[in-house]
Amino acid sequence: MSRIAYVNGRYLAHAEAGVHIEDRGYQFADGVYEVVAIHRGRFFDEEPHLDRLKRSLDALSIAPPMSRAALKHVLREVARRNGIRDGILYLQISRGVAKRDHAFPKNVAPSLVVTAKRTKPTPRKLVEEGIAVITIPDIRWKRCDIKSISLLPNILGKQQAKDAGAFEAWMLDEQGMVTEGTSTNAWIVNRQGAIVTRPAEEAILNGVTRLAVKRLAAAEGIAIEERPFSLAEAREAKEAFLTSTTSLVLPVVRIDSQPVADGKPGKLSLKLRALCEEAMAR
Ligand SMILES: Cc1ncc(COP(=O)(O)O)c(C=O)c1O
Repeated sequence: MSRIAYVNGRYLAHAEAGVHIEDRGYQFADGVYEVVAIHRGRFFDEEPHLDRLKRSLDALSIAPPMSRAALKHVLREVARRNGIRDGILYLQISRGVAKRDHAFPKNVAPSLVVTAKRTKPTPRKLVEEGIAVITIPDIRWKRCDIKSISLLPNILGKQQAKDAGAFEAWMLDEQGMVTEGTSTNAWIVNRQGAIVTRPAEEAILNGVTRLAVKRLAAAEGIAIEERPFSLAEAREAKEAFLTSTTSLVLPVVRIDSQPVADGKPGKLSLKLRALCEEAMAR
């Protein structure tokens, strides 16, 4: 089955789909995006993704290109036309196409692109053995709560991690506190056994998986402390893990080449992953 993309009202062959060269997403990274997981034909946590999309659009004063109901229809249609039962939907909205000028253009319709791709399940090895992270300075802007398509610091950080043989880079603010990963949220289980993650303010993206973990943990009576934690605290933690739509929950077993506790995935990390997997299968 050949891939199909939705671009501004049309379903096009993926290989030929494109936007105009003066699309502000292309020229200024003036846009936002979302990634939604599809599991056995069902969208996981679609509403929180669409809520966050709305918040990102509002923060940048970009009008929604269509109603929520119409967008949901397009998402389903892209998934259907691509025959995706397990995979991800990518949707991107930019301020639209206009003659290049920094200030907002007037009377311009936002651009909407939706693609879908099949994904393989996370390799069991990553879950069973855990993954490594490096740490790098957080050089991003001060509104990381907006899911902007402007991702240069994130891609540079991810490449640094890859070059170091790690899965992710955790970013540190000027106080040496962990903000988040380049495309994941960061968590630890500290010496006292408390699950700690940074509060969702403007320094991090409020991950939909982060919210799912909070919800599922609360239902199990597992407490979560939302406060910044330092690299020093992470290095001494009993467990560490990361969360995202594409990784779900993955145990972190090395930080900057040093093992976290005994260097094996922690019990709570694996329990939270299992809870997420169950929630997705429901
Ligand atoms: C910077 C950043 N933090 C966290 C996340 C995790 O968010 P979610 O769980 O919604 O995928 C992402 C996902 O792309 C991200 O880019």
